[in-house]
Amino acid sequence: MHTPEREAHRLDEVDPGHRHLFHVPPADGGDHPEAAYLAGNSLGLQPRATRDELLADLDAWGRLGVEGHLEAERAWLPYHELLTAPAARLVGGLPAETVVMNSLTVNLHLLMVSFYRPAGARTRIVIEDGAFPSDSYAVRSQARFHGLDPDDTVIRLRPRAGEDVLRTEDVTDYLAAEGDRVALLLLGGVNYLTGELLDIPAITAAAGRSARWSAGTWPTRSATCRWPCTTGTSTSPRGAPTNT
Ligand SMILES: Cc1ncc(COP(=O)(O)O)c(C=O)c1O
Repeated sequence: MHTPEREAHRLDEVDPGHRHLFHVPPADGGDHPEAAYLAGNSLGLQPRATRDELLADLDAWGRLGVEGHLEAERAWLPYHELLTAPAARLVGGLPAETVVMNSLTVNLHLLMVSFYRPAGARTRIVIEDGAFPSDSYAVRSQARFHGLDPDDTVIRLRPRAGEDVLRTEDVTDYLAAEGDRVALLLLGGVNYLTGELLDIPAITAAAGRSARWSAGTWPTRSATCRWPCTTGTSTSPRGAPTNT
């Protein structure tokens, strides 16, 4: 959709949004003083409040030392609980199902150690060719962990010739054709590079018909699989344990 600049300014005036809450890098030499910051992965803009919040925790460390674990105003031991309610809202899960922990790659490994169970001819791990680089390494490590050759085991689905993004049907067609060889399907709900939102519920249903596991790595509400999990990180169509 094309929005003329004047209309864009009018919309900004009606709803100025939250831009003022962040430090936005300058756009040196550009028409506008600040960069249009579209990075959807790696690192977002720094919230203006972050510096003061971090300094408060550093002050507590200075004043209390190890006692800060329990006695800081924002005690460190149950620190993750501060994030539970907003994180649950973000992923569309229940607070009891949600915890903020580790790095994404560590969590992926924990997930795959539980859910990737290659057996017989069913060994393949299917990812997007445009998966985040560290995700690509993680699945290769998992193949090796099971004594398998990552070059044979990891299948990278590519967009059709002349197209830039994967279609949902590219995934479901692969599953229809090769699903009985697939042990794990690992997809970002929203691709970090293209912003594409795959139809995770449709893919989950297709995976349930043929593959053993499917997992959306970015379980936003819109990318969430609906069956049988609520947090969208995994499904177990064959009755094996889920992480819900
Ligand atoms: C899409 C995506 N996947 C994976 C990662 C890796 O995350 P981590 O460094 O927490 O393992 C990042 C980090 O920016 C990311 O943006």
